[in-house]
Amino acid sequence: MSSSEISTFTQEDGDGRIATNREPDWYKDAIFYEVYVRGFADGNADGIGDFIGLTEKLPYIKELGVNCIWLLPMYPSPLRDDGYDIADYYNIHPDMGTLGDFEEFLRQAHELDIRVVVDLVVNHTSSECEWFKAARQDPNSPYRDYYVWSDDPTRYSDARIIFLDTETSNWTFDPVAGQHYWHRFFSHQPDLNFENPKVHEELLKVADFWLEKGLDGFRVDAIPYLYEEEGTNCENLPKTHEFCKKLREHVDRKFPGTLLLAEANQWPEDVVEYFGKEGDEFHMCFNFPLMPRMFMSVRREDRKPVEDIILNLPKIPPNAQWCQFLRNHDELSLEMVTDEERDYMYTEYARDPRMKINLGIRRRLFPLMENNRRAIEILHSLLLTLPGSPILYYGDEIGMGDNIYLGDRNGVRTPMQWTGDRNAGFSRSDPSRLYCPVIADPVYGFQGVNVESASRHESSFLNWLKRLIRIRKRYIAFARGEVHFLHPANHRVITYLCIHGDEIMLVINNLSRFSQYVEIDMRDFAGYTPIDVFSSNPFPQIGELPYLVTCGPHGFYWFKLEKG
Ligand code: GLC
Ligand code: CA
Repeated sequence: MSSSEISTFTQEDGDGRIATNREPDWYKDAIFYEVYVRGFADGNADGIGDFIGLTEKLPYIKELGVNCIWLLPMYPSPLRDDGYDIADYYNIHPDMGTLGDFEEFLRQAHELDIRVVVDLVVNHTSSECEWFKAARQDPNSPYRDYYVWSDDPTRYSDARIIFLDTETSNWTFDPVAGQHYWHRFFSHQPDLNFENPKVHEELLKVADFWLEKGLDGFRVDAIPYLYEEEGTNCENLPKTHEFCKKLREHVDRKFPGTLLLAEANQWPEDVVEYFGKEGDEFHMCFNFPLMPRMFMSVRREDRKPVEDIILNLPKIPPNAQWCQFLRNHDELSLEMVTDEERDYMYTEYARDPRMKINLGIRRRLFPLMENNRRAIEILHSLLLTLPGSPILYYGDEIGMGDNIYLGDRNGVRTPMQWTGDRNAGFSRSDPSRLYCPVIADPVYGFQGVNVESASRHESSFLNWLKRLIRIRKRYIAFARGEVHFLHPANHRVITYLCIHGDEIMLVINNLSRFSQYVEIDMRDFAGYTPIDVFSSNPFPQIGELPYLVTCGPHGFYWFKLEKG
């Protein structure tokens, strides 16, 4: 698919339906990049990243090989949960710019054939939202019923508390309203009441507002928690799925080609439900079950965690796609692993108790892996070849560090490091004005770790990753193929085929820090020649005997199998 074939223009046709002529399943071939606008680039020198700054950096994102940006919430908000506490759904946070700045950013992104999806928080609002203010002040206000109130704070007691480190209950008493309100996250984030049809209407209106601007989709936040029901854990309820279908039907009808990506941090059998049995809910779901298991496999030098979880993922509808990631703006969440697996992860990856938060580890990729370049490379080989579309987290492409002395998850949201200059080139403001200090330690500090120096060094991780992305995009089997695991005796090596039509890719990843060899039963492909896609070098032809491959420490191969 060439970029000129995709147009992101939308036009009204006679029926008022908005027609698009873009590829409907573009997300299957996408490489995503998650951007924290406040932390990316400061265009007006006030110490806070904004849309003007981000727009200036679009060529950098383009060059990385990314074709879809996911923006963290950019709405007006008291920022007590970094924007996931929305106060006004119809505007841009003044720190980040104006609606005009956002529209200009979107226009320029589209010009570069980069799509843009933003976070849509539907489960809850900020307590500063006008809807909540009206609700608490007046029991007769139409907004009262936008939220979930009760005189009895013992209702729904089977629902777990998610922010374990800060909250003791899912109910908080509001002295103004004289009642308790329900919240699954921080107590300043009251949950919306989905039993009220007006809430549905309101949220669809919000979606329309942004999609009319030409936005390409939403990452829908915290989707499992929309409804409550006594006697259940209040997650993944049938009514929640009904709302998802309604949202999908709405955007499909009015804005075909719009991507809906679900944040459903759940066990495999529950996540896949969000694709909808008929492929009629979300196009994509984050692969939360896979994420921690990639780290387990690499640390244990054993393919079992990754292989088992993928084999256990139920089949997904043909129009659906997984979205896999190594790190994001949150902690490395360990909610969907066994107690034993969690203990293992804490011991291996969070030696300092400060690294833990709730049920997870708040660290960036490079420090998690102790800066071990080879181990990080093997993780990226998995990320870019396992079934689904990959997502990268800003700053990880240059090996940024974190700051575990900052509160909450702020340590992984520090300013992007562009240069070795003042404020890492992120901002021309007075350094004391920055929304958050830059990383300045001797290992990950901006003086050494920054885009400018990484771009200059041919062997930098950044240049290595760009090349990997370029090659991944060349083979459709990585994006859309079916994965078949091969089971050579050596369990330190994970080997699989990605097959799409007559494109057959063979991937061999050595999870071990030592050299390994594997003997792979490839009889089905006797007569084929594996071509190493990085060098175009042909390897010996496959025959009837086990195919022998040796791998250096954390080495990997991506082969294309060619006949003859
Ligand atoms: C999601 C976000 C997280 C936020 C939470 C509550 O899990 O990823 O950052 O704190 O929702 O909105
Ligand atoms: Ca700014």
